[in-house]
Amino acid sequence: MRGRFITFEGGEGTGKSTHASLLAQRIKSFGIGTLLTREPGGSPGAEVMRYVLLSGAVRPLGAEAEAVVFAAARDDHLTTMIRPALERGKWVVCDRFADSTRIYQGVAGKVDPLAIKAMERIIVGDTKPDLTLILDVPAKEGMKRAAERRGSGSTDRFEGEALSFHEKLRDGFLTLAANEPDRCVLIDATSSKEQVAEQIWRVVSKKLDPASAPIAFEDFKV
Ligand code: TYD
Repeated sequence: MRGRFITFEGGEGTGKSTHASLLAQRIKSFGIGTLLTREPGGSPGAEVMRYVLLSGAVRPLGAEAEAVVFAAARDDHLTTMIRPALERGKWVVCDRFADSTRIYQGVAGKVDPLAIKAMERIIVGDTKPDLTLILDVPAKEGMKRAAERRGSGSTDRFEGEALSFHEKLRDGFLTLAANEPDRCVLIDATSSKEQVAEQIWRVVSKKLDPASAPIAFEDFKV
């Protein structure tokens, strides 16, 4: 049986990476084979493209070019990691996926939504997430958290954008959650880490019922 595919989405500093990791550990504790991964990146080929994208090297070529490189990275990640894992019954927890392209390059970057849609159809095809958790914090708060996490390090390609860009992202994610309520669940990520994790676990338990998933024995290697 195909595994389940769960994605985390949201703006900067919303805690996606922390909660993706906590969720993957919790799913694993049920004996379910689990792949925790991220975008851009997640496969050797896509990690090279991540490095190029986040360095800002593609930025001068425009948002369309960036969207194409994100899609190329996604194609490799899907082909070499996500689809094989799902086919083996594993559950995949991915920190960002195609919705980030819709919102960052589409809504904020103004790339034609039809072009974004066409790329998604070609690259993602039927490998759509079963559940997307959209972590929400006000843009200003998210930028503050991201700056604290960064410390004295420099901003990446997107962290360095103005507050108005981050507000557009937040509006984009809120609209997405409202438009696709079957797949997307909005999570208020302003409360404590423990409270957010519990909120996420309640949603995952209700929608995907990990307690009754078949156990992937191949993951119990001695
Ligand atoms: P990352 O360090 O993983 O940021 P975060 O912790 O905020 O997830 O960097 C990923 C960056 O790439 C992030 O700013 C969002 C951006 N991005 C896009 O613009 N389009 C995409 O399709 C994806 C997957 C990410």
